[in-house]
Amino acid sequence: MRILSGIQPSGILHVGNYFGMMKPSIELQDQGEAYYFIADYHSMTSLYDADLRREYTRQVAVDFLACGLDPEKSVLFRQSDIPEHVELSWILSSVCPMGLLERCHSYKDKIAKGLPTNHGLFAYPVLMAADILIYDADSVPVGRDQKQHVEVTRDLAAKFNQTYGETFKLPEPAIREGVEAIPGLDGQKMSKSYNNTIDIFGDEKATRKKVMSIVMDSRTREEPKPDAEENRAIQLIKHLASDEDYAEEVEKLKAGGYGYGDLKKRLFELYWEYFQRARDRRAELMDNQDYVDSVLKTGAQKARSIASQVNQRARKACGLE
Ligand code: TRP
Repeated sequence: MRILSGIQPSGILHVGNYFGMMKPSIELQDQGEAYYFIADYHSMTSLYDADLRREYTRQVAVDFLACGLDPEKSVLFRQSDIPEHVELSWILSSVCPMGLLERCHSYKDKIAKGLPTNHGLFAYPVLMAADILIYDADSVPVGRDQKQHVEVTRDLAAKFNQTYGETFKLPEPAIREGVEAIPGLDGQKMSKSYNNTIDIFGDEKATRKKVMSIVMDSRTREEPKPDAEENRAIQLIKHLASDEDYAEEVEKLKAGGYGYGDLKKRLFELYWEYFQRARDRRAELMDNQDYVDSVLKTGAQKARSIASQVNQRARKACGLE
């Protein structure tokens, strides 16, 4: 089974990225042939700073490796090292009805929020389809917000196959239950655009301060809190703690005599502990940038050998060769 997923280098990675995309991807590396890429072409629709793009791209590679991505098992690469993605994207765009893209939630949401739009943002799902189809991927682990894009990918594959003959494999989205919305500091989905994130590798003091600033209701320390499971700090603890530790925190809140300050302190401790090994590994990687470069280079070679074959298959099918 070939697994493929991508992550945008559009900012410093946060705990929502970790549980939503990175951790499931890292776990899947033992279950198939896994290809993970840093979607730097995609980041161009919203990030307009060249130095930052370079820096975030490198950070994603470092962070992914620090968190346990094993380059012996998975292929890690940078999207723009494989320019065939862009050619295939053009090929697919000519079998893509406008309506299909006009219906995409992520695009509609951006319009609804009044964010500036551009053609790249509109065509984003077509590039994503090319990313997936160019590796003959079977399974695409993504967050629920990306499911529609995988459906567009299937539609475009089918449309192309119908027009030019059997060329592409139809991929399946693999949505992990329970991680579709990691709550942020304000209880909304953790997202850079909501400014409610906890960075995976944030500075100790600043992160503690952020965690302690989580806004709760006004119940006192003494009051029992029967709705403990709904608490946003508890929902984060659920991901960061063992089942027993999580249950213990829930019990304490329900019993009363355990306040939100206590809870937030515990949340910070659990967070800090959870990422300690990754933090150590990351420090080593930061001192060994040549290694990171070599991982990306080898990854690009492996990825390109597949991408160029599949792209050629598509070029032949539609009469470009
Ligand atoms: N759109 C995805 C996101 O923002 C990133 C992405 C780009 C991707 N291409 C992909 C994910 C292909 C899976 C497969 O999260």
